[in-house]
Amino acid sequence: MAMSALGVLLLLVYIKYMVFDDVSIRNTPRPACPHREDRGFTETVVTSDTQTPPSTAIPDAKRTSKVTNVLFLKTHKTASSTVLNILMRFGEMRNLTFALGASPVLYRLGYPEKFLPGYALPLATGRYDMLCHHARYSSAMMDVVPIGTVFITILRHPVKLVESWFAFFKIAQRLHVDMDTFLKAPHKYYSKYGIVRGLNMVFTNPMLFDLGMDPIDSLNQTKVYNKILEIDEVFSLVMIAEYFDESLILLKYLLNWSFHDIVYFRQNARKKTDDKTEIISLNRTRNIQITHGGDMKLYDHFNKTFWRRVHTFGVDRMQRELKQFDLEKQYWEKRCISKLASYGNITNEEFRPYETMVLGYELAPEMTSDVNCVLMATTQLPFTRKIYRRMLNMNQLKSNVFNAKLIRG
Ligand SMILES: *[C@@H]1O[C@H](CO)[C@@H](O)[C@H](O)[C@H]1NC(C)=O
Ligand SMILES: *[C@@H]1O[C@H](CO)[C@@H](O)[C@H](O)[C@H]1NC(C)=O
Ligand SMILES: *[C@@H]1O[C@H](CO)[C@@H](O)[C@H](O)[C@H]1NC(C)=O
Ligand SMILES: *[C@@H]1O[C@H](CO)[C@@H](O)[C@H](O)[C@H]1NC(C)=O
Ligand SMILES: *[C@@H]1O[C@H](CO)[C@@H](O)[C@H](O)[C@H]1NC(C)=O
Ligand SMILES: *[C@@H]1O[C@H](CO)[C@@H](O)[C@H](O)[C@H]1NC(C)=O
Repeated sequence: MAMSALGVLLLLVYIKYMVFDDVSIRNTPRPACPHREDRGFTETVVTSDTQTPPSTAIPDAKRTSKVTNVLFLKTHKTASSTVLNILMRFGEMRNLTFALGASPVLYRLGYPEKFLPGYALPLATGRYDMLCHHARYSSAMMDVVPIGTVFITILRHPVKLVESWFAFFKIAQRLHVDMDTFLKAPHKYYSKYGIVRGLNMVFTNPMLFDLGMDPIDSLNQTKVYNKILEIDEVFSLVMIAEYFDESLILLKYLLNWSFHDIVYFRQNARKKTDDKTEIISLNRTRNIQITHGGDMKLYDHFNKTFWRRVHTFGVDRMQRELKQFDLEKQYWEKRCISKLASYGNITNEEFRPYETMVLGYELAPEMTSDVNCVLMATTQLPFTRKIYRRMLNMNQLKSNVFNAKLIRG
């Protein structure tokens, strides 16, 4: 009796050591793709339009609980702030550990440098449950998250992205040029590495840049093709901003999360000044297709695999899920929000957007202590600071020194 209890104990210690201990993980040779999810289906690269979507239904992912290890490669100007809010809310409600920026700001992990472990604040023990703040992709990310972490990212159509980029970074004011003039000869405004003057941001192929490519390489078709293969292999889901809710439904399914887990109030939504921005001139499109040829390829590829996945998921099933998701969103909006407000009108600092031209939310007075409402309305920077304080209080971070500079960051 005593002997068998001891046996069980030893076995547990042995399992813990072999399976979970960091050291043993580091000593085992890394599989080709350690975090790749066994999700019961694999995507193949689409090389031509003639391929038809697979007709067999995907078996439900074999999960017994919600996935709590997610790496979100946060691309720029792609509705990624809304995804970030969803992930931060999920993690905050479960006290998960996040990779936060070591310096100079909490919400950036060394960006625009390619990610290195030293860019993240070290944890007291273990690896990060979530890595979802601005970071530039590198394979070093695999070393700081647990095996089994699900890698996801989001892409947006390059033409839409450029327009949003142009407005958000105030290029017109910065460089005294209107968008169409800029697009006619953009090389006048950026260095050969694609970095725009006075802005630590690339203009050409920004999504490939975020995914770890050097601007000069993203002009080489072979290299772009190889990058697409890599992303296809490493990332379990590439969401598409134009099909945001569909993307979240696939995410919910992939992570075995609930509707409540993926519900959102849109973050970083630009104020609509007029509808002209919706009409894109052919010249503009053509120019962007030239400067953003690599991103176009990337987008087209993943838009295709996305829709193949929706087909595999089931088009009718997707419609049903979307309807249910709409109800969930309406429920929370009705419950929490009193009105959509612009920067100056938002009195609670936590809900104030980063940018004056972005809309934020005013909560209904009786909901200001409802944790769900509060976290959904909290914008990126205050939310990140909140996570930092919580991790500090829970002794999840290695250093116990309260870093005032980072809190302000
Ligand atoms: C999702 O997790 C729940 C437990 O939270 C489990 O009962 C269910 O089987 C899981 N669903 C799938 C599809 O694996
Ligand atoms: C998170 O941590 C707080 C403070 O230690 C604790 O009160 C709460 O129950 C924890 N929540 C979960 C979901 O573990
Ligand atoms: C493009 O990349 C491939 C693969 O790295 C290389 O072999 C080729 O020389 C490159 N082409 C140009 C024009 O640089
Ligand atoms: C579009 O580009 C063509 C060729 O560069 C030029 O002739 C034409 O004037 C442009 N149209 C507009 C509306 O800018
Ligand atoms: C994405 O792919 C779908 C299905 O092939 C297509 O109908 C749609 O036009 C594409 N979206 C964009 C924005 O290119
Ligand atoms: C902000 O407040 C001002 C003054 O009360 C008001 O005129 C304006 O409409 C408000 N704007 C928004 C977006 O709430």
